[in-house]
Amino acid sequence: MIGIFDSGLGGLTSVKALHAIVPLCDISYFGDTGRVPYGTRSREILIKYSMQDMRFLMSLGVNAVLTACGTVSSNCLDELRTAFDIPIIGVVEGASLKAASVTKNGIIGIIGTGATINSGAFERELHKINPYIKVIPQACPLFVPLVENGFIGDDDEVTELVARRYLDSIDKSGADTLILGCTHFPIITRILQKVLPNVTMINSGAEAAALLATKVNPPAESGSIRYYISDEPDNFRSVASIFLEHELTDPVQKIDIEKY
Ligand code: DGL
Repeated sequence: MIGIFDSGLGGLTSVKALHAIVPLCDISYFGDTGRVPYGTRSREILIKYSMQDMRFLMSLGVNAVLTACGTVSSNCLDELRTAFDIPIIGVVEGASLKAASVTKNGIIGIIGTGATINSGAFERELHKINPYIKVIPQACPLFVPLVENGFIGDDDEVTELVARRYLDSIDKSGADTLILGCTHFPIITRILQKVLPNVTMINSGAEAAALLATKVNPPAESGSIRYYISDEPDNFRSVASIFLEHELTDPVQKIDIEKY
């Protein structure tokens, strides 16, 4: 069984991608909906939260974990890998490899939460692959509450207005590739693509799922998906259905994450 976690709904982009690649692998998803957002937190708090998230998934007996959160992947991966003796895959590596392989002009934009952009993790990873890549980072914290609250329709004027403001510097830089370094962002890809029509968008959650499938050899089981969250399930169910592009009928259980 593979564990996947995020601060809220964003990690569902990884659930969808992993289930499509290895449909028989059981997945347990934890969305920390009671403590979202993570992207505005200090590193100390992020380590505390992600350790608890990991301990909860470990209690279910997972064989490997995908930290489907750009913020955790950028700030806490080393600590998690030191503390837990199972494979842990973040979202930075796969997206960076993909972006470096598709860019033609070597200019890559990165959008993520404030904590992700401030960490410089994507820049370091891209420069490890190719030191000549020009990186244009931009924090886009407002996208997270917009997505969590369902402002995700293709014609959503509010999200488009925010996107035009945030993406201006990337547009002017001439970047031909954009890493969606927060797993909440792929759900608004079509809005982002309207603002940057000629830019290739890289879905970091999906790239991480593909990387995990090659690195970990996920087991063939019953293909069940179980969802755990730390707040009431109502809003989660309705927005999750949009993320997953089907009605969420699988069980969703509220848990007390502070116990872990
Ligand atoms: N989806 C997460 C990320 O990739 C977290 C967003 C947040 O909670 O601020 O960064």
